[in-house]
Amino acid sequence: VDLHPIQTPPSDEEQRAVDALLGPEPREDDLPSAVADVRGQRHLLLPALHAVQSRMGWVSPGALGYICKRLGAPPAEAFGVASFYALFALSRRPPTVVHVCDDIACKAAGADSVLAALERGHNPVAGGALPESTWMRSPCLGMCERAPAAMVVSAGPEPFERAFGPVTIESVEQAILRHRVDEQPRTVLPQAGDPGLRLLRRVGRADPSRLDDYRAHGGYEALRRALDLGPSGVLREMNDSKLVGRGGAAFPTGRKWEAVSQAPVRPHYVVCNADESEPGTFKDRILMEEDPFAVVEAMTLAGFATGSERGFLYVRGEYPLATDRLDSAIAQARTRGYLGPDILGRGVRFDIEIRRGAGAYICGEETALFNSIEGFRGEPRNKPPFPVAVGLFGKPTSVNNVETLVSSLDVIASGGLAYAALGTPGSTGTKLFCLSGRVARPGLYEVPFGTRLDALIALAGGVAGGRPLQAVLLGGAAGAFVTPAEISVPLTFEDTRRIGATLGSGVVMVLDDTVPIVPLLQRMAAFFRDESCGQCVPCRVGTVRQEELVTRLAQERSLGSPAVELVLLKELGQAMRDASICGLGQTASSAIESAVTKLKVFQGGPP
Ligand SMILES: Cc1cc2nc3c(=O)[nH]c(=O)nc-3n(C[C@H](O)[C@H](O)[C@H](O)COP(=O)(O)O)c2cc1C
Ligand code: SF4
Ligand code: FES
Repeated sequence: VDLHPIQTPPSDEEQRAVDALLGPEPREDDLPSAVADVRGQRHLLLPALHAVQSRMGWVSPGALGYICKRLGAPPAEAFGVASFYALFALSRRPPTVVHVCDDIACKAAGADSVLAALERGHNPVAGGALPESTWMRSPCLGMCERAPAAMVVSAGPEPFERAFGPVTIESVEQAILRHRVDEQPRTVLPQAGDPGLRLLRRVGRADPSRLDDYRAHGGYEALRRALDLGPSGVLREMNDSKLVGRGGAAFPTGRKWEAVSQAPVRPHYVVCNADESEPGTFKDRILMEEDPFAVVEAMTLAGFATGSERGFLYVRGEYPLATDRLDSAIAQARTRGYLGPDILGRGVRFDIEIRRGAGAYICGEETALFNSIEGFRGEPRNKPPFPVAVGLFGKPTSVNNVETLVSSLDVIASGGLAYAALGTPGSTGTKLFCLSGRVARPGLYEVPFGTRLDALIALAGGVAGGRPLQAVLLGGAAGAFVTPAEISVPLTFEDTRRIGATLGSGVVMVLDDTVPIVPLLQRMAAFFRDESCGQCVPCRVGTVRQEELVTRLAQERSLGSPAVELVLLKELGQAMRDASICGLGQTASSAIESAVTKLKVFQGGPP
């Protein structure tokens, strides 16, 4: 594909899939107002690619050419975008694909034996020249509490997408054969019924498909209070609460909202970052699946406080159930006057559009996410300028994590000072933690900041089978290992920093003495190499070299001596930290380095 228009025509089916999204193609004699002219609306590129992928199972040159013609997008650029995402296929493949997770939590739960059995002999169903279905390996699907997990994606006139788990070789084979899986059981919270739950208090209790049920469980009380307080009152409460972002960077939310509200340039935007692709993380998925109206209400509240009339909700492509539930929640909120031009009759305007990611971890980085929504490759931008000044479509933007937004409802409902009284002075409120791996009761937990790590693991039933603890991976692949000696660390931003760890996205992956650590390090190294957007050299080259080094050390094929290789690994990590543009490269070595220094892997320590 080059800069010339693609000459291959689309098939009728491809054209219909695109037209269903963009409207019929204008004819020469159409009056400009008779049909929607979508030329120049580049932000529709990602939805258009999704439309074709889910109808046809791949994006053919003809379909890509037709999308380019409709949107007025250069084919070379559109090809660059389509090829950026793992969930789009640019060559023909079977319409049904079962994505089987081979990432760290699933490995710790025995995914390797399922994958080995699939590799040994499973031949996808034959159906003419091309099989009707197949399977492939996938990074973390955000279902780690049901590890090992998989997701079936079946394209066609009635596309089907669902994640499922825990899987066995039999259940994966069934999904490959049937192109479907049965309805999955609803999420059961291990803490169900605990009166101390705040963010999770509706999960499992309110029906996520009914606005009235949401309201019956306290829904929209925070927004009503916010409308009474006015934008400046909301900002005061947010600052009083000392709430900081839960997406990893821990930036004060009140300050972010205030900066956007005061920005002179208009319009302002609110973006909900629901890309959640950090291996081991599933908290936002459960909030969106089980309490979708809370996400809608919280975005509306953020819109009111920041003077934004339009919000974008960027959901990771591997979360089909969350997307369906949010879609339905937005539609109901619109019908009932909780979204739209005159919210609750108070003259406030706000509405939300959903954008689906398509399999790219880097799109969780806030500026990569803007590029993705705008229809460009999901490559991070240089900062400054920061999003509060120059964000989505170049306008002031408040981008927040799902958990941060839902926490803001708690802040407004209970009052900023009351919220700040929870947790510790430096880390206020409650926090969601994703417990996975070799723990007795994996799942999503909510505890006040300051709860000790060993107490949290005890709340989850302790190490599965009462085996000895080897280590805990805290904060995900971009986090660090915590040793048994450090297990009493209080879970706060300040205390975890003290031991060289981070809370990150709330991953608590428990590893007992049966789990080999080195294969997890190899998987993490492969993950960062695969997910690097390739834009800057330290990360593009560094993640490749890091994977090579870890592999050589794992296979005891060191060039020179292992000691020299370990020095090289450390220097490489330092170079990536110092010189990478964004957090991916800056954190790509942190878990691996912590395994080397703390667990002494490759030095006669744990395997
Ligand atoms: C590689 C990378 C991936 C990220 N992924 C996510 C993500 O999936 N969800 C998220 O909320 N923040 C993610 N972030 C952090 C965002 O850039 C940003 O800080 C966050 O969305 C701000 O929201 P908050 O203030 O509510 O935390 C990621 C950052 C990096 C560098
Ligand atoms: S650090 Fe990595 S992911 Fe981030 S911009 Fe550079 S190459 Fe891309
Ligand atoms: S779903 Fe497999 S590691 Fe998260």
